[in-house]
Order: sequence, then structure tokens, then C-alpha cells
Amino acid sequence: MAQQRTTFNSKLGLIMASVGSAVGLGNIWRFPCEAGEHGGGAFLIVYILCVMLLGLSVMLAEFFTGRASQKDAVGAFKILAPNTMWKIIGYNGVIAAFLIFGFYSVVSGWTLEYIYQSASGNLRADSVEEFTANFGKFTSDVFRPVLWVVIFTLITHIVVSSGVKKGIERSSKIMMPLLFVILIILGIRSLMLPNAVEGLKFFFNPDFGKINSAVILSALGQAFFSVSVGMGCMITYASYFNKSINMPNTAVSVVALDTLVAVLAGIIIFPAVTSFNISPSQGPTLVFVTLPNIFQQMPFGDLWSFIFFVLLAIAALTSIISLHEVVTAYLHEQYRMSRRKATAIVSLCGLALGIICSLSFGVLSHVKIFGVIIFDLLDFVTANLMLPAGGMLICIFAGWFISKKALKTELTNSGTIRFRLFAVFAFIIKYVAPVIIALVCLNQLGLF
Ligand code: TRP
Repeated sequence: MAQQRTTFNSKLGLIMASVGSAVGLGNIWRFPCEAGEHGGGAFLIVYILCVMLLGLSVMLAEFFTGRASQKDAVGAFKILAPNTMWKIIGYNGVIAAFLIFGFYSVVSGWTLEYIYQSASGNLRADSVEEFTANFGKFTSDVFRPVLWVVIFTLITHIVVSSGVKKGIERSSKIMMPLLFVILIILGIRSLMLPNAVEGLKFFFNPDFGKINSAVILSALGQAFFSVSVGMGCMITYASYFNKSINMPNTAVSVVALDTLVAVLAGIIIFPAVTSFNISPSQGPTLVFVTLPNIFQQMPFGDLWSFIFFVLLAIAALTSIISLHEVVTAYLHEQYRMSRRKATAIVSLCGLALGIICSLSFGVLSHVKIFGVIIFDLLDFVTANLMLPAGGMLICIFAGWFISKKALKTELTNSGTIRFRLFAVFAFIIKYVAPVIIALVCLNQLGLF
């Protein structure tokens, strides 16, 4: 077994792939909607603190686990902690990745429908109510959304089956710069709107009186989801890092770029919202209902809608690839399946789950588990339970089970690079992160 492990080709490619995983629907759709509901500027500050303190630390703990073991999310724990229960973290991650894949592919599919609608000039309605009704009609339909799920899964399949270098790395290197260009164009357009300042005030002016426990907790959950930690995604990607990569710097870059995109998304959305006199606390319909309504009132509205939904689709694709890869790498390595076969199994099973999730808005909407439709159940269970639990366990694993020396050796590339804040990092993963995350989990379960 002296086979060389696959690695990313270049430092840039590896950062683009990791940023591609982190930047997704979470940044452009979920973040503005959470910020809007939780007081704008106040949420932003708490969110940034959470990302810097927790997101970054969990990511580094995952980077350590992945590169030290050079294995998939489950295999990593078999190597670093043989014959122990720690591999549960890996199983939790693989299952979470699969479940997130299911509902993520549905929303990703919607972005394709909206690209199609805006390209064909049909994304028009007379009022927000009509947009809402159209959105509801589309999502509860049987064939159309399912068709888009099939197409999106197929695209994902093609990228992942092309491999780590030729598929994931190469596509990210093309798509991520494109995404930044689109973000900047849309940001400038939005800032030129009349009354844009009101939106910026809402987004950047923190009203400290608005910070309460609900704001803190939702900021924490969002931080986790946004930087793709808690389920072995970064373990899997780091297993493709070569031994000379500076992991502390990489983690800082990924987290910083992810946060930058979330802030840019806010700069695009809030001025647009306030300049058309719409309340920023719209909730999840913000992107699919409010924005098309705003765009159609601007000159070249279809074009802006088109650009925006292309942006959303690209962001979704590079993220869903990483979810697919977690499960694919697991099957490929743990069952010694060919990569092709592993990819095909994940695509087919993921597709089945995606279709069920899509139908849960229509024909399966009567199927309720714990009072919610399947789509919402998967969203809740993964984002609010499995990710925080996984993140907490990874911190405990790296902080308590792994020796400080081994941790430091791996993160400093055997002492060849400096990691000045190592002591701070070690303290956070050992004490701070587990306690804070435990409080969040308990709160999500309604126990605290
Ligand atoms: N971070 C992505 C987003 O913001 C979603 C995502 C991809 C993710 N891979 C993940 C979330 C792993 C948690 C864990 O949309």
C-alpha cells in the first residue's frame, strides 16, 4: 500500500476548492435572511466573533485530522484512534453530508429554474404576492423541481467523478473567481440604488440593545453551516493537502473569504431591499421572492436576476460537490470500491433523497415527521443537531485525545512553519468551543 495519496495540485486550487465548499447558499441566501431577522448590524458583529472564535478553530481541528491521517472522514479516526469509538464522528459526518445533500440539491435546483425563467424573460409578476404564489406553485409541482434536481445532481456527478484534481479543483478554480466578479458587479449595482445608505445603515450599524441570546445562538449556528464544519468535509479536503501546506494560514484565508462573501451578499441585498421599501426581516423568501420583485423594477431587470441566480447556482454547486465528496471518499476508501462506482452510488442515492425532499413541498407535504415536512426535518436535524454535535466532538477529539505535541507537530509542519497562536487555539478547542457548542445544542433541543 505504498500508493501515493491524491493531493490538490496547487495552493491556489486547494484554497479555491475549500472556499468553494464554504461559500454556498448559506452565505448568499441564509446569511442575509438570518441577519435581517436578527437586527442586521448586531447580528453581523456576533456572527463575525463566532466565526473567528469557533468556526476557525473547528476548521483547524478538522484540517489536522484530515492531513495527519490522509484518509476519508471515517478512515481518519481509524488511523488516528484505532479501536476506539471516535470513528462515530466520521459516521455522523458521512450521514450528515448525505442528508444535507438531499435538501441542498432541491434549493440548488430552484436556482436553475430561476436562471431559466429570467433568461426566457418570464420572471415577472405584478406584486410580491404574485411572486410568492408563483414560487409556491413551482416548488409544490411534481415534475419541474424534480427535473432540476436531476439536472443539478447530474452536473455534480460529472464534476466529482472527474476526480479531485480534474473535477473538484479545476472547476473551483474557474467558478470561484467568476463568483467574486459577479458579487462585485451586483454589489456596485446595489450601492448605486437610491436610498442604498439606509440598507447599509441597517446592515452595518450595530444596535447593541438588540443582542440577546437568540441572536447569539442563531449567529453560532450560521457560523458553523457557513464555513462547512462539523461533519468531516474539511477532514476530507485536508486529506488531499500535501505536507507543505500552511494549514493555519489556509484556514484563516478560507474563513476570511467566506465571511467576505457573506458581507458582500449583505451589501447586495440590504440596499436593494430598503431602496424598494421592503422590510429586511423577510425570512427565507427573501431571495426567491423579494429579489426578483426588486430586480424587475430596475432597468435590465431580467439581466440582473439572471446574473444573481447564476451566482447562487455556482455557489451551490461548489458546496454540494464537497458534500458529495465526503460520502464518495468514504465509500471509495472504506469499501475499496472504484471511485467511479462510489460516485455513482452516491449520486443515485442522493438523487432519490433529493426527489423525496422536493416532493415534500407538494405531493408528500402531508408526510410530517415531528410536525414538519421532510425537507425541513433534514435541514433542522443536520444544521441544528448533527453539525454542532460533530463540531464539538472534533474539538474534544483534537483537544483531549490527541497529544498537544502531535497536534503542534502537524499544524507547524514538524516545526518548519510558525503558528504563533497555537496556545490560544489549543485552549479554545479544549475548553471554550466544547462548552459553547454544548450550550447551543442544548438550546436547540429546547433544554436550555
Ligand atoms: N457551507 C456551505 C454553505 O454555506 C454548505 C456546506 C457545504 C456545508 N459543505 C458543508 C455545511 C459541510 C456544513 C458542513 O452553503
